[in-house]
Amino acid sequence: MRGLMPTHQSPKTFRVKSFGCQMNVYDGERMAELLADKGIKPVPEGEEADLVVLNTCHIREKAAEKVYSDIGRLRKADGSKPLIAVAGCVAQAEGEEIMARAPAVGVVVGPQAYHRLPEMIERAVRGERATDTDMPADAKFAALPARRRVNPSAFLTVQEGCDKFCTYCVVPYTRGAEISRPFKDLLGEAERLVEAGAREITLLGQNVNAWMGEDARGCPIGLDGLIRDLAKLPDLQRIRYTTSHPNDVTDGLIAAHGEIDKLMPYLHLPVQSGSDRVLKAMNRSHTAQSYLKILDRFRAARPDIALSGDFIVGFPGETEAEFAETLGLVETVGYAQAFSFKYSPRPGTPAASMDDQVPREVMDERLQRLQAALNRHQLAFNQRTVGKRCAVLVERTGRRPGQWLGKSPWLQSVFFEGQAAVGDMVDVELVAAGPNSLAAELLVPAAA
Ligand code: 5AD
Ligand code: SF4
Repeated sequence: MRGLMPTHQSPKTFRVKSFGCQMNVYDGERMAELLADKGIKPVPEGEEADLVVLNTCHIREKAAEKVYSDIGRLRKADGSKPLIAVAGCVAQAEGEEIMARAPAVGVVVGPQAYHRLPEMIERAVRGERATDTDMPADAKFAALPARRRVNPSAFLTVQEGCDKFCTYCVVPYTRGAEISRPFKDLLGEAERLVEAGAREITLLGQNVNAWMGEDARGCPIGLDGLIRDLAKLPDLQRIRYTTSHPNDVTDGLIAAHGEIDKLMPYLHLPVQSGSDRVLKAMNRSHTAQSYLKILDRFRAARPDIALSGDFIVGFPGETEAEFAETLGLVETVGYAQAFSFKYSPRPGTPAASMDDQVPREVMDERLQRLQAALNRHQLAFNQRTVGKRCAVLVERTGRRPGQWLGKSPWLQSVFFEGQAAVGDMVDVELVAAGPNSLAAELLVPAAA
């Protein structure tokens, strides 16, 4: 396609705007590194950029509509439009439509092809609009530049894609089949992240606990084996992983929580619903009971583990009684944190054409009740940790002078005052709890 797009000089500055999940945040960071490596300068949010990458999410709501409104709004100070690249899952799912509907877009690049972004930008500058939504993920990671400067808490994508085909979900279509990145690549990237300042690594994957590989001796290992080997990196202090699927939980992963000090006591294990009828219609292949049994086993291995989950209210056909089963499950588990969403029909998924779509008002009301219960449990969990002493990884300064913000082992945001620096691990006592954060007192000043 030619002609329609406004002409552009080679961009000197760029901004990446990421929406959606942590894997998108990771992809956004890697795209930013790639562009910086080509000599294009990053500019902060709110400042004018020659190139804007919209790294989109397609999982819920009218994500595509949001992309179009962003495209419409983006302007430089002189009124001209920046060069716009649409990346991420909307690019994958609706690339053709975007090109047809939005002449301002010069590049459309899917989540498995963004290593080719610089050459696509060059083509766009020459007036050739470029689309690349190829699916194989093999080439991407190898083609990306090395990690240089990172936050104390860094993401590392170890697994992509999904073979589960939950009936409401677009991920198997936008991110493709499950693939695991090779062990030695991950060990190398983790080493470089730690050299660049990371003290905590969160291993990412749509089904992170489906990760499979071979260790340095060629033995087959799962996610727990990968965690065990990463834990040997001396300067890496904390390991987390997300998101897990109940069906891929192994004995080894549960045991790892009792055995590896660096593996943090936190588990994000989505359940979606407390009703077995709804779970079956969602093609979740677990029941409420089998899910609760898995949580019991994690708790037996690591009694203080903080539990988190995802919920969908208003899946087609969900009755009040079935929703009440979800509320019942929330009371049984006592989540430390959770994410809850109204069901959103995604084009092309089986659930989108199911009968009995639940009216919006019913969904709104159920979501409110669910979130009230989840918030109550979150506050109760935070309150139960008051009085505990724990390590906090300092991530940034707080709003008040002399104040720092970090994370507890249970992924709570913790504020404290005193002598510290970003990247320090400090010992604190938790002294007060709110719904979203805790206040703490510093116990031992960090070593200079
Ligand atoms: N509607 C609402 N929520 C959804 N999720 C995934 N697809 C949909 C959808 N169509 C939620 C699930 C999943 C999380 C990442 O997003 O809870 O675990
Ligand atoms: Fe989507 Fe289900 Fe796969 Fe999660 S497990 S990405 S909800 S299809």
